[in-house]
This record gives sequence, structure tokens and C-alpha cells, in this order.
Amino acid sequence: MFKNSFNNKKVLITGNTGFKGSWLSAWLLGLGADVYGLSKDIPTSPSMYEVLCLEDKITHFTEDVTDLKAVKTIIDKVKPDFLFHMAAQPIVVTSYKEPVDTILSNVMGTTNVLEALRVLNNKCTAVIITSDKCYDNVEWVWGYKETDAVGGKDIYSGSKGAAEIIFKSYYHSYFKDSEKSKVRVVTVRAGNVIGGGDWADYRIVPDCMKAWVDGDSVEIRSPKATRPWQHVLEPLSGYLHIAMELDRNIEFNGESFNFGPDAEYSKSVKNLLDDLSKYWDLSQEPSYLSSVTSDFHEAGLLKLNCDKALFYIKWLPSLDYDKLIEFTSTWYYNYYNSNINMLDFTLAQIKEYEGIALSKDIVWTN
Ligand SMILES: NC(=O)c1ccc[n+]([C@@H]2O[C@H](COP(=O)([O-])OP(=O)(O)OC[C@H]3O[C@@H](n4cnc5c(N)ncnc54)[C@H](O)[C@@H]3O)[C@@H](O)[C@H]2O)c1
Repeated sequence: MFKNSFNNKKVLITGNTGFKGSWLSAWLLGLGADVYGLSKDIPTSPSMYEVLCLEDKITHFTEDVTDLKAVKTIIDKVKPDFLFHMAAQPIVVTSYKEPVDTILSNVMGTTNVLEALRVLNNKCTAVIITSDKCYDNVEWVWGYKETDAVGGKDIYSGSKGAAEIIFKSYYHSYFKDSEKSKVRVVTVRAGNVIGGGDWADYRIVPDCMKAWVDGDSVEIRSPKATRPWQHVLEPLSGYLHIAMELDRNIEFNGESFNFGPDAEYSKSVKNLLDDLSKYWDLSQEPSYLSSVTSDFHEAGLLKLNCDKALFYIKWLPSLDYDKLIEFTSTWYYNYYNSNINMLDFTLAQIKEYEGIALSKDIVWTN
């Protein structure tokens, strides 16, 4: 997998204690990497990070990315071959309540990571994770391309757009000159993902799983809204794939890539929850309350155009909708209802995912 690019390599993940960071840590451990993490806290309880006992398998630093000195010290100490920068305040609703903290973590945090890379004396290939929400959402029906304008009407989206702008300035000022810079950088933009092990607030699947465990109804805002659902392993495969390519090929330095699902993956929220419920022994049909209202502006659907990733690195998603449902629902079901080792279960899902990608001849499986 990934041409063995991560075997015995030092990989630093910021935001390693979060949902995506925990999945990425588990995958990289399976690929033979020496994993390091930098996060300010464990953002939820329970958390995938603790459920998988990742603290025993990686070298973790509890630090805040808004602290430039700490970020510089850790990056210089680890001297990572690869860096995935994921640490962020990732929730739109929270960004309305905590705008300054969101901007500090997402904009200054990214600036500090780039600054630490600027003064690093070692080779490093870095992937900066922003979001599909970095695009200026003009509510059109077409998919957003990497060349479209960044922006954002809410604080979270604006902070991710701003991180993209800072990235470009750092690239042009310091990392573009391949003679001088040992650091190569890209940004990656993906949309909302689902999968086992997410317990963040204001996300539909965690809300639903928490409700079902307690035998409650789940509160949903827009049961008929359709969304392009995607498993967390799909964009992670894109992040690993572009890291491998960037490490081998200078032409990707300074570029940005979208990683998103096919349009056929779009289903209504109600369909998704009904399908997830089939893996649970619910004594009665799952029930929904759609009385929750939001005071905040909620942007309409934002679709990603992923032709660039397909054209340049031949990246494609691997799971069909049924597998996405099975992977997600069985993970939570086993966590709540069995005594199996969830790290083994997670690694088995990753192996199965790799097998499915291999059967579809997806390039990174080489
Ligand atoms: N989950 C999604 O659907 C989704 C979609 C698009 C983009 N993203 C992006 O992917 C990344 C990871 O998202 P997630 O869902 O895993 O989030 P999460 O909330 O589960 O984890 C966030 C991580 O960042 C760390 N963190 C937050 N602020 C920090 C700070 N100031 N200093 C150090 N660490 C800090 C937390 O400790 C945690 O490890 C984020 O950049 C997010 O914006 C996520």
C-alpha cells in the first residue's frame, strides 16, 4: 500500500486525538509508521483515541498549536518525514459561539505549523487539512474546483478559507524554491465524513448513536436534506496518497486537492439513519424529532469537484453506500454491545477497506 512510503517513517499528526486523527494514526501504525501526535486535549468522552488506547502506541505531545514556541520545539524535536496538520476547532455551531478561539486555532494554528516548517532544517512533506467549507459558497449546483475563490460566511468556513490564503503566501514566500526549501506542502479539502468513533457534538451520526444507546429518539433538523455521505477512510486515503506523491514529485508542491464522494452517495438524513438502524437490535422503529431549530445561518449543499485528484493521482473513493453504512453502524454497535478489542476491529475495517480498494485497482494500493 502507498508504495511502502510510510514504513519506518516518522509521521507527526496534529489533532491526533480527534476523530480523523485517531483513524489516521491507526492506519499509519498499520502501515509501519512511527506515529507522533500533537493535540491540546482529548476533545470528547468517550473518544476514539482512548478507546483504541493509542496513547500506548504513539509518542504524544499535549500542546496548543496557537503556541508557536511549543509547535517549533516539537517539530524540530521530532523532525518528521511527513506531517499531517489536522488540529482545528472543526464545528460550525461552536465557531459562532467561540469565534476568536476558532480563528486562533484554525488560522494562527496553521500559520504556526507553517512557520515551524519554514525554520526546520530537515526534509518534510506536509499535508495541511482544511475543509470543503474553505470555498466561498455561492450556493450554485456545480462542484467547487480547487481554483475557485475561498471565503466563508460563518466563522469556521472563513477560518478555513483564511488558512488556505496563509498557506499560499507561505508557499510562494518560502517553500516554492526547491533549491532552498526542504519542505513540500499541499492543502487538502474534504467534506463531512462519518464512521465509527466520532463523538463530537452537533454531528448527526454521533447524535443518533448516543440516542439509540439510551433508547431515545434522535433530534434532527432537516430529515429530508440530502447529503453526500462519505466514510472517514475515503479522504484519509486521499491525504496519504497525495503525501506519497508529493514526497516523490516536486510538481505537486504548493497545490491543493479536493477529496469527495460521488454524487450517487447522496441520501436524505432520514434514509441514512434508517439504514444505520438496520444493524442495531432496536425494539421498535427508530424515531426522530425534527423540532430542533437553529439560530445560525446554515449554508446550502456544497459539492466538490474531484477531477483534479482523479486526473493527476488517479484517486477515487472505494466504498459503496452499503459498505459505508455497514462500516459505520457496526463500529458503534460493537463498541456499545460487545467486549471485542476496538483497535483490532478498527484495523480489520482498514484492512477490509484496503482490500476493497485493491479489488477496484485504486492506484494507492500498489
Ligand atoms: N470531521 C469532518 O467531517 C471534517 C470535515 C471537513 C474537514 N475536517 C477537518 O479535519 C480536521 C480534523 O477534524 P475532526 O473531525 O477529527 O475534529 P475533532 O474535533 O475530532 O478533533 C480535533 C483535534 O484537533 C485538536 N485541537 C483543536 N484545537 C487545537 C489547538 N488549538 N491546538 C492543538 N490541538 C487542537 C483536538 O485536540 C483534536 O485532537 C479538522 O481540521 C477539521 O476542520 C473535518
